[in-house]
This record gives sequence, C-alpha cells and structure tokens, in this order.
Amino acid sequence: MCGIVGYIGRRPAAPILLDGLEKLEYRGYDSAGIAVRDGNGPVAVVKAQGRLRVLSDKTDHGKAIAGNCGIGHTRWATHGEPTETNAHPHVSETVTGIHNGIIENYQELKDKLTKNGYVFYSDTDTEVAIKLIDYYYKKYAHTPVDAINHAMVRIRGSYAFALLFNDYPEEIYVARKDSPMIIGEGEGEHYLASDVPAILKYTRSVYYIGNLEIGRLTADSLTFYNLDGDEIQKEKKEIEWDAAAAERGGFEHYMMKEIHEQPTAVRDTLHSLAHGDHIDLSEVGLTDEDLRSFSQICIVACGSAWHVGMVCKYVMEDLARIPVQVDLASEFRYRRPILDQNALVIIISQSGETADSLAALRLSKQMGIRTLAIVNVVGSSIAREADMVLYTVAGPEIAVATTKAYSAQLIAGYCLAIQLGLARGELTEERYTELIRELDTLPGKIERILEDKERLQWFASKQVAAKDIFYIGRGIDYAISLEGSLKAKEISYIHSEAYAAGELKHGTISLLEEGTLVIGILTQQELFEKTVSNLVECKSRGAYLMGLTVNGHYEIEDTVSFAVYIPKTDDHFMASLAVIPLQLLGYYISVGRGLDVDKPRNLAKSVTVE
Ligand code: M6R
Repeated sequence: MCGIVGYIGRRPAAPILLDGLEKLEYRGYDSAGIAVRDGNGPVAVVKAQGRLRVLSDKTDHGKAIAGNCGIGHTRWATHGEPTETNAHPHVSETVTGIHNGIIENYQELKDKLTKNGYVFYSDTDTEVAIKLIDYYYKKYAHTPVDAINHAMVRIRGSYAFALLFNDYPEEIYVARKDSPMIIGEGEGEHYLASDVPAILKYTRSVYYIGNLEIGRLTADSLTFYNLDGDEIQKEKKEIEWDAAAAERGGFEHYMMKEIHEQPTAVRDTLHSLAHGDHIDLSEVGLTDEDLRSFSQICIVACGSAWHVGMVCKYVMEDLARIPVQVDLASEFRYRRPILDQNALVIIISQSGETADSLAALRLSKQMGIRTLAIVNVVGSSIAREADMVLYTVAGPEIAVATTKAYSAQLIAGYCLAIQLGLARGELTEERYTELIRELDTLPGKIERILEDKERLQWFASKQVAAKDIFYIGRGIDYAISLEGSLKAKEISYIHSEAYAAGELKHGTISLLEEGTLVIGILTQQELFEKTVSNLVECKSRGAYLMGLTVNGHYEIEDTVSFAVYIPKTDDHFMASLAVIPLQLLGYYISVGRGLDVDKPRNLAKSVTVE
C-alpha cells in the first residue's frame, strides 16, 4: 500500500513524478506529495489531502516546481488520518523522505528521539523513520549510506524509503525491506517506483533492489550497498510488459479494459504452459516425478487469489485425487499449520507483495516444505523467495478489483491440476488431451460472453438501489459465488454474501426479505437441480432471483426472473466463464451508483501490511 516514485536526470522531475504517481494511485489515494530539488537549492515540498488531481492542480501539473531530482508519494493511511500534515514527504533538518510500509516499533523510536530533542508534527511512523535517519546522520554517520544502515538496524517492520539528503543535492538514496521497489535506468537518468507501470513509459531496464539493501541514484550512476555498507553488484533485467498495457486504451475505466483483456490473459498464460497437446512445467521446475511425490497440496492466498484457490481445490482433487487444503494467508501464518514434509504449498498472488501471503510463504519454507508461487508481477518478493515460480501472463493490472489476473490464475491452476492428474495416473492420455484442447476454447468463449454485456448492463441498472445481494452455488459454483460477491462488495459497496447453496437454510435464509436479490450459480451439471431447489426456497421467502447457467438449461426461466447463459465447457473450467457476467454486473452497478470503479474507498491494490 502506498506508492512511491523518484526521478533524477536532466528533465523536469515534477511532471514525471506526478505521471508515475497516477499509475500508482491504485496503491493508495488518501493523500499525495512530492519533494523536488533544483540543483543546490532547497528541497521544495508540496502535499495535498485527497486524490492526486488535487496535488496536480496545486502544482500546475508539476510545471510550478523546478528541478531535475525528486521523489513522490501516494498514501494509503496506516498511522494517522489522511490529512495533509500526515501526507508524505516528511522532512527533518538534513533529510526529506517518503516511505511505503509500516514501522512496527515507531513508538519506541519516537520516544527515544523525543528525549533527544526531536519534535513531531505528524502522527505518522514515517516521520519517525526520517528523523531517526537524521539523528544517525548527525550523530555517528559520515555518509547517507552509514546513516541509513544505522536506522535499518533499529527499525522493525517493512519499508521502501526514498530519501533526499540536503548535503547531497544530485543524489537520491533508497532502501527497502519487505515493501516493493524497483529502480529503472534510462539515458542519463534513473527512476524508482513501487511498481512497474509507473516507469514503463520511460524505460524497461530495471534493477530489483533486495531486502535490506540500499541504493544511491544519480543521473549517470547507480550504486547498491548491503547492510554492512559494502558495494554489491546487481543484474539488470528487462521488463517485457508493453507500455500501452498500463494505459486505459479508450475504456472509461481500467476495470472494463482489464475485463476485456481476459481472453488475451487466458490465452497467453495457457500458451506459456501448454504447447500443443502437452503441458510443460519444466520452466517452473516441476517434473512429473515431483508431481507424483506430493502427498498433499496447501494453497495459501488472500482475497480473489484465495477464491482461485477454492476453485483449484475442487479441480485438483477431482482430476488428480490429491488432498488440497485452501488457507487464508492471514490465518495460516498464525495457526501453526500441520503439513506433511512431502506437501506442496502454493502461494497465489497477483502483486507478489501481499504481506500475509509473503509471510505464509516464509513460514512454509521455514517448515521445510516446497513452495510454488503463482504470481503476475515479475521480480516481486513472493516470486523471488518461492522455490518455484509460475508466472501468469496477464500484464499490468491497475484496477483495484482484480479481473484478468484472477482469470489467468485459474488457467495456471487448471494446468497444474491436469498435469498432476496425468502424472499420478488419474487421467488417461485421451482425457488429458481432451482437457487441454478444451482449455484452448476458453478465450473465444469469454469473447462471446463479452459481446452480450449490454444485457448485464440493463439488469445492473435495475439493481443500483439493492441493499443486499446473495450469491449461492454448490461445489465450483460456490467458489464462483465467492468471487461474484466480492466484486459486488468492493466496487459497488452493496452488502453481499456468498453462500454454499445447501447451507443457506441453516441460518442465513432468515436475512431474506421481499425483493432481496439472490443470484444462483448453476454451471455444474450434477448439482443443477439441487441448486434450483435452493433457489425455489429463496423465492418462496420473497427473494428476487437471477440464475447464471449454461446454454441449453432454459428451464431455469421457470424459476428465476432473469437468466444469464454462458457457453458450455468442461464443468471443471466453468469458473473461467461464469465469472465474466459477475464481473460485469459488479462493474455496471458501481458505474450506475456513480462510484469510483477503479479506486474504491478504503482499499488499495497491493496490501503490503498485515
Ligand atoms: O496481489 P494479491 O493477488 O496477493 O492480492 C490479494 C487480494 O488483495 C486481492 O485479490 C483483492 O481481494 C482484490 N482487490 C479483489 O478484487
């Protein structure tokens, strides 16, 4: 959470900082601020409460601030309210800085600094960190790197810092632990950012700064140091994402653009793993022998990635007959999980930076369990720390509500399930080939669903005043309900529940009132009639029904008031199709309510705090 950027070179820094912050606004949008330095002059700091456009207006889109060196921040408030005073950058006598992360021992450090005469103006942990660096710079250290090193040893928590030292006008210093940061290299210029989209327009050559490492950026040089202050070498990497992928490309919202990118995300992810009629996991590092050796699978994730895990549980257990447990990362990390030494832990994460998922990965590794990360962002912390990585090929996802990354993660999960099934002797060659060929039809089928989006738009226009929405289904349809319900909640702010259809009458059905919208998901052939019965029970208690099912099941119209049909596919892959109308429904209700679809209140795309 929070986005940070920096620029040093020969061009005006402020417009580049604002442009980068716009790409990172999905990481937090409570306030924003920049600090820019013109040569040897003083550091100019401008901050504004609220969205980035307020800061942009205040600085005449950056034109009002001269200087070729600067840092910028967009905030998701942790310590202290989202006011201008609490906005970054924070300033001390010798250092100006921005921070993404959480300083856990900030109170203890603040007390120490207060005893040493420091005065604090904000409620933030960041101001404490900046003043701690100032303290070490003045007291013991002779260089910025020394000062930062001293502070890093004292600070507990997570951070990505970007710092301007008054005595070093043509330099930016950075340091990180457990919060993301990349350094971009251009011609006579350098960039820093929390995430790739912020700099993609300018460069694709990047360095990943590791945990407990420090960087010194000038226009023409880059130097990295370890915690001892020794210089270290780093390898330059090329980002393959296309710059246009991080733009809205004519769509009103990133979310709608990303919904439309799903056929491509699904196709590209599939083709990165399946070649012809075979799935090849050798690049991931998984052999068929490995797949045979696992005694159980434990999938750990948060939010929508956890919902993908729930789908995968049904698919993997059925196709490969291997026990699969699915854990919320925030629960897994604190409950001393019991896992067999031959287990495989799979961490699913779009950003690769989710704090709880990262902690769960580390815990699994400590337990000596093999770990596989299914991640979208190349070079992210989870990708780097896992034993094996399977990259989804969804491109940058900007909207806070995930769509294309979810779809790409599903494909990765299906491929694993199918290969597990073959390797473990649960699938015949014939069935294996049939399933892979079926996967290949999914992008086209998603395109067909998208062509019919106006019906959903019409239905959504009737639901903008809904107070509650219930999503029900059984088996994979229950897992799909979880994602549909989250889409409704997070972007349209409508209270919503996802329920296993058969479980509703054990309590929750008492919430139904006259006209409450209940959406039944009925894509699983064997469970169709069971869920219809549950819908009838809801209807007889006054619920208004929508049904989402497969072409041909037109009898659903005897039960529901509004029916949505999706193309047929293998039952195991239904989530890939059924989720599309549910994403569209959430999107259109949000637009109909006049809400900020891409940046819903209280949320941030990348949850780097626990
Ligand atoms: O980056 P991650 O996939 O680890 O993020 C996990 C969740 O925070 C994320 O899926 C969240 O639930 C989405 N905003 C849902 O749309």
